[in-house]
Amino acid sequence: MIVTIVGTGYVGLVTGACLASRGHDVRCVDVSEDRIGLIRSGKAPFYEPGLEDILQRCQASGNLSVTTDLATAMRGSQISLIAVGTPGDGEHQDLSYLKTAAGQIGMNLKNASNYHVVTVKSTVVPGTTRNIVNALVEEKSGVKAGEFGLCMNPEFLREGSAVEDFMNPDRVVIGELDAKSGAVMEALYDSFDCEKLHVSLEEAELTKYASNALLATLISFANELAALCEATPGADVETVMDGLHLDHRLSPMADGKRIRPAILTYLRAGIGFGGSCLPKDVNALRTYARRNQVPAPLLDAVMATNARRPEQVAAMAEAALGGLAGKTVALLGLAFKAGTDDLRSSPAIAVLQSLIKRGAKVRTYDAFITRAAAAAAGLESFFAESMEAALEQADAALLTTVDSAFRQADWKRLLSRMRTPVLIDGRNVLRNVRLPEGARYYPIGQGGPLHEMERQWAV
Ligand code: UGA
Repeated sequence: MIVTIVGTGYVGLVTGACLASRGHDVRCVDVSEDRIGLIRSGKAPFYEPGLEDILQRCQASGNLSVTTDLATAMRGSQISLIAVGTPGDGEHQDLSYLKTAAGQIGMNLKNASNYHVVTVKSTVVPGTTRNIVNALVEEKSGVKAGEFGLCMNPEFLREGSAVEDFMNPDRVVIGELDAKSGAVMEALYDSFDCEKLHVSLEEAELTKYASNALLATLISFANELAALCEATPGADVETVMDGLHLDHRLSPMADGKRIRPAILTYLRAGIGFGGSCLPKDVNALRTYARRNQVPAPLLDAVMATNARRPEQVAAMAEAALGGLAGKTVALLGLAFKAGTDDLRSSPAIAVLQSLIKRGAKVRTYDAFITRAAAAAAGLESFFAESMEAALEQADAALLTTVDSAFRQADWKRLLSRMRTPVLIDGRNVLRNVRLPEGARYYPIGQGGPLHEMERQWAV
């Protein structure tokens, strides 16, 4: 099929590349000449495993082309997928790019000779596709919906595994204006072996928010329990969570084997959730609830717990060092999660700010964050080139991401560079790692005075 993708951000480019790799003729459009030039040279404007390989392969095969000219990209096209950004914190959603895209698609549909389905991929609150996008396409094309198709097709990609997620989806949700529109989308995903759910436009919009709100709720639940365990001598959140996970409704038995669904990873304590999706989407849903006079205290609490968590973890560092004034803390991990270079709403940055407020000097290291990226986020003064440099004469290290490199690190050598060998594990990533003798290890979610939590291992 001929597919036009408007917007080459994270969602648009991954979607375009993956659909092209399944044999579709995909044309990606973006207003930025620089971005298009970069993609044309086979480079992705952000880090995503496997993406550049597909970009290069599909451009070489002719299945994928990139342009700044929407008219060229829409010639003969059967589907346009709108994947532009909707900036904002969730409280206010800036729909200007979405509106521009819808209007321009409408203008190009004026003289289209074939049936074309306009599809929204961007995350938008219920009613946006029907009331805003549809109205603009109708106005600019002079054609009534029905003569062109309209769909809402949310994405469920995780950063760092987006290509893998797209290629092996657990579901394809097709919100459709009518069956004819939905049938075209069904054909687009024909080669993907998963359930395809045909729903209303509004149900598709809500399914996206519901999915992210559930993940955020699970994380805040785990973090609230971690804080409760931290206040309970003798309690360990990992043990409590292990017990909880074994409920057969969460971890069923099949053929005598325990199944451990991936969703349970969201029921592990940490430093709070971040990124460009979970916080923004929960906030957007709260705003939507408020505007519709629907009480949503659970969603309010999810965000309140999340805002508290970085403070609680920074307070652990303060307690471990007996005060942070003049102390140096090495913050290991800065992105919102390991394996990405994305600093948006990173809870690690919230921990950093809390440490500074408490008087600490902070150095940060994250294998995926370059000096330029740190500088762009206003964090250059904290930047260290390596784990060694961050830890040099530090009073404590605070781990904020589940980076497997932390498990493999030579802690004997690393701790020897520090002034005091204090390790605060914000994600309990080193819980089962043998640490050298003398290491003062503080996992999250364990109760009792801090000295009781110290664990020592002989190497
Ligand atoms: C999330 C969803 O997982 C995707 O399904 C969705 O498509 C995407 O948002 C989106 O809306 O585009 P993503 O933001 O890439 O994906 O990241 P996650 O892996 O879900 O992690 C989100 C945050 O929660 C991170 O800060 C992560 O560290 C944190 N987290 C995750 C935890 O604190 N604990 C966990 O157990 C899991």
